[in-house]
Amino acid sequence: MNALKVTVFTALLVSFTALSQAIEYGQLCDITVTPDECRSVNVLDPIVCTNVIINGTDFAVCACEDGMFRHEDLNYCVSPHLGKCTIQSNDGQPIHKCTKFAHCFDTTTRANERKEGKCYCEPDTVPDGVSGHCKLTHGSNRCTVPTDCNVQSILTCRQGSCVCEDEEYQVWNKTSGKCEALIAGSCTANLPFPKPDCNGRNTHCNNITETEFICQCLPGYTEAPDKSCYKEFEGECEINDDCHPQFECKGNPTKQCLCPDGQIYHDESKTCRILVGQQCALNSTLECTIHAACINNNCTCTQGFIGVNGTCFAQYGSECSEVGCYGSDFLQCSNTTTTCDCVPNYQAENNRCVGLIGQSCRNSNDDCVGNSICLQNQCGCSDGQESLPNLIQCVALHGQSCDGITVCKTDSFLTCTDSTCNCNNPLSQTYEESRRTCVGMADRECLGVAELCVGNSSCSPLDNTNMQRICKCNQNFASSKEGLCVQANGSSNVVTSGVMLSILLMVTQYI
Ligand SMILES: *[C@@H]1O[C@H](CO)[C@@H](O)[C@H](O)[C@H]1NC(C)=O
Ligand SMILES: *[C@@H]1O[C@H](CO)[C@@H](O)[C@H](O)[C@H]1NC(C)=O
Ligand SMILES: *[C@@H]1O[C@H](CO)[C@@H](O)[C@H](O)[C@H]1NC(C)=O
Ligand SMILES: *[C@@H]1O[C@H](CO)[C@@H](O)[C@H](O)[C@H]1NC(C)=O
Ligand SMILES: *[C@@H]1O[C@H](CO)[C@@H](O)[C@H](O)[C@H]1NC(C)=O
Ligand SMILES: *[C@@H]1O[C@H](CO)[C@@H](O)[C@H](O)[C@H]1NC(C)=O
Ligand SMILES: *[C@@H]1O[C@H](CO)[C@@H](O)[C@H](O)[C@H]1NC(C)=O
Ligand SMILES: *[C@@H]1O[C@H](CO)[C@@H](O)[C@H](O)[C@H]1NC(C)=O
Ligand SMILES: *[C@@H]1O[C@H](CO)[C@@H](O)[C@H](O)[C@H]1NC(C)=O
Repeated sequence: MNALKVTVFTALLVSFTALSQAIEYGQLCDITVTPDECRSVNVLDPIVCTNVIINGTDFAVCACEDGMFRHEDLNYCVSPHLGKCTIQSNDGQPIHKCTKFAHCFDTTTRANERKEGKCYCEPDTVPDGVSGHCKLTHGSNRCTVPTDCNVQSILTCRQGSCVCEDEEYQVWNKTSGKCEALIAGSCTANLPFPKPDCNGRNTHCNNITETEFICQCLPGYTEAPDKSCYKEFEGECEINDDCHPQFECKGNPTKQCLCPDGQIYHDESKTCRILVGQQCALNSTLECTIHAACINNNCTCTQGFIGVNGTCFAQYGSECSEVGCYGSDFLQCSNTTTTCDCVPNYQAENNRCVGLIGQSCRNSNDDCVGNSICLQNQCGCSDGQESLPNLIQCVALHGQSCDGITVCKTDSFLTCTDSTCNCNNPLSQTYEESRRTCVGMADRECLGVAELCVGNSSCSPLDNTNMQRICKCNQNFASSKEGLCVQANGSSNVVTSGVMLSILLMVTQYI
C-alpha cells in the first residue's frame, strides 16, 4: 500500500513540478499546508485539497469543494441545484458557477464585490435525484446529448427533445415525473435508465423469463385495447376504476362491476345497454337493450317485442334465442326455429296464441280459439253451442242463432236458415233434443248412415218400390201430422194388460 502511494505521488509530483508550482484538479496535494495548495491555482475553480480513499488507501487530491461537481466541458467545479455559487458584483457574472441548466441567483444583500449566490435549476429542468445536476425534463426541446435529459425519469434525447426511452411502450406520468411502462412494455432495468414503474391501475411488473420483466395486468384483470386493466362484468372491485369504464363498482356487502342504473348487461356484446323506457341518444355509443330502438330519445321495443321491466320479450313469431318469449302469452321458444310458438293445446290466431276449448284463459274471449269464450278462466262454448271433437270450434245447436262465424252443428244435420240452426230438410226431419240431432220424421226417410228415426219408430227395411228406408212407427204408435210417433188411442191399456197376462202365464207355467 505504501509502495503504491509513493509511486502515484512521485509520478504526479514529477508532472506538476515540470509545469509549474500550481496544483491542479485531480492532482495530489498536502492537506496540512495552509493556505490550501489547490485554492491558489485558479480563483474561478473552487477546488480544495481533499482526502480521498482509493482501493483502501488514503490520498489527498485537489477536488471540487464539497457538494460541487466537475463540469467536463468548462473544466470548472460547478454547483448543482441549491448549491452555492459566487457572483462578481461588477459584471454580475458568476465566479463560481452552477451546473448546466442551472442559474446563479444572488441571495445576499451585502454590497461587496463577491456576492454569495445559490444555484437553481432552469424551469424546464429538474435536479437529478442522484447527482443534483439539473436535467431537462419531458418535452424540453433543447437537449443535445442523452444525458441532458433526466435519465432518472427514463428520458433520452431524440431530435433535440427529451422523450421516453421507449416511446412505443412508455408514457409520461406528470404526477410521478417519470416515464412509465404500459402493458407489455419492459420493466427490466436498462442502464443507465432505472427500472420503469408500470403505468395505470391494477398492473404489475412480472418476469417472463429469469431476467426479463414486462408490465402485465394483475391476475383477475383483463387488458383493454387502451392498455388499461379492468375487471369484467360482475368482477369484484373496490372502486369504479377497477372496472371497465362502462361499469360501476357497486353492491353490498361485496362490490361488483355492474351496469349503472337504467342499463342492463348484454352478454353477447359484453356491453351495458339502456333499458326500455329510459332516455337514449341516436348518436351515442350506448345502445338500447336488445330488440329496442331509440325513438324520440326513448328506448322502445321494436315490432314483435313487448317491454317488461325495461326488457323486451319476444311475442308470437319473433326471434327468442336471446330474450325469450313474453311470459304471459301462452308462448314458448321453439328449439327448431328460435321463434316464439304456442305452448301445447294453444294455437296461433291473428299472431297470438289462443287456447283450445278446455284450456285456461285470462278473462278474455281473445285468449280462446275461434268462437269459443272464456268462462271462469277456461275456454268453452256458449249455451246452445257445443264443441267439435277437434276442440277448435263451438257449433250452434238447433234453434240457436248462426252466422258466418258461428256455424250449425253439421253432424246433427243442422243448417243455418234465416240465422237460425234448423234441420237440413225441415219437412222430413225433426230435431230431437235428447239426442241433440235431427232425425227422420215418421213415414219419412231414415236420416244419415246411422238411419236416425224419430222416437218410437224404427227404420224399415229397404222398400223395393221407391228404394227408400222409411221411419215406421212402432207397434201401437201412430204417426202424427208433426211427423212424430204418438201412442195410438186406447192401445195403452191393451198393451199393458196383454203384457201382464203373458208374464203371469209364464210365471204360472214355471211354478
Ligand atoms: C484498484 O485495484 C484494482 C484491483 O486491485 C485495480 O484494477 C484498479 O486499477 C485499482 N484502482 C486504482 C485507482 O488504482
Ligand atoms: C402516475 O403517478 C402517480 C404517482 O406515482 C400514481 O399515483 C398514478 O397512478 C400514476 N398514473 C398512472 C396512470 O399510472
Ligand atoms: C421468474 O423469476 C422466478 C424467480 O427468479 C423464477 O423462479 C421463475 O421461473 C421466473 N419466471 C419465468 C417465467 O421465467
Ligand atoms: C319513454 O316512453 C315511456 C312510454 O311512453 C314513458 O313511460 C317513459 O317515461 C319515457 N321515458 C323517457 C325517458 O322519456
Ligand atoms: C349527440 O347529439 C346531441 C344533440 O344533438 C349533441 O348535443 C351531442 O353533442 C351529440 N353527441 C355526439 C357524441 O355526437
Ligand atoms: C318487474 O319488476 C318488479 C320489481 O322489481 C318485480 O316485482 C316484477 O316481478 C317484475 N316483473 C317481471 C315480469 O319480471
Ligand atoms: C327444447 O330443448 C330442450 C333441451 O333439449 C328441452 O328441454 C325443451 O323441452 C325443448 N323445448 C321445446 C319447446 O321443444
Ligand atoms: C215414445 O212414447 C212414449 C210413450 O208414449 C213417450 O213417453 C215418448 O215421449 C215417446 N218418444 C218420442 C221421442 O216421442
Ligand atoms: C186420439 O184421440 C184424441 C182425442 O181423444 C185425438 O185428438 C187424437 O188425434 C187421436 N189420435 C190418433 C192417433 O188417433
